[in-house]
Amino acid sequence: MERTLSIIKPDGVKKGLIGEVIGRFEKAGLKVAAMKMIHMSKKEAEGFYAVHRGKPFYGSLTDFMSSGPCVVLILEGEKAISRNRELMGATNPKDAAPGTIRKAFAANVEQNIVHGSDAPETAAYEIGYFFNALEICS
Ligand code: CMP
Repeated sequence: MERTLSIIKPDGVKKGLIGEVIGRFEKAGLKVAAMKMIHMSKKEAEGFYAVHRGKPFYGSLTDFMSSGPCVVLILEGEKAISRNRELMGATNPKDAAPGTIRKAFAANVEQNIVHGSDAPETAAYEIGYFFNALEICS
């Protein structure tokens, strides 16, 4: 059993894709163990994406992520990290496989509808960034 952090980004919320995206997770057998809607400040977005500080897209990415509400979720299941990444598709929708969330809905490499943790260590950091133990239902 593994947990991963998922974010439905501001573009996904604006496009009315919350239900569509969560439906894909559930149909694939991933369980929602926690969920909330938040509107990150620029500072909160910078903290979340601190690993990308210094990259050319960092300023624009953190502007985008603080531009409107997101839905943050914890997904739980066997191999949840890799299975969520398969459902999302490649970061750049141009490279994403057919049938994936990003291929279907993402406008570009930055506004790519969803985020998902990429490894157990990042999942632990990212889950702790948004949720405390009392907010997680196993
Ligand atoms: P995400 O999976 O949330 O992880 C980091 C985010 O940075 C990524 O999705 C994109 O939204 C963004 N990103 C990654 N690479 C680029 C890029 N080359 N140009 C702009 N944004 C990027």
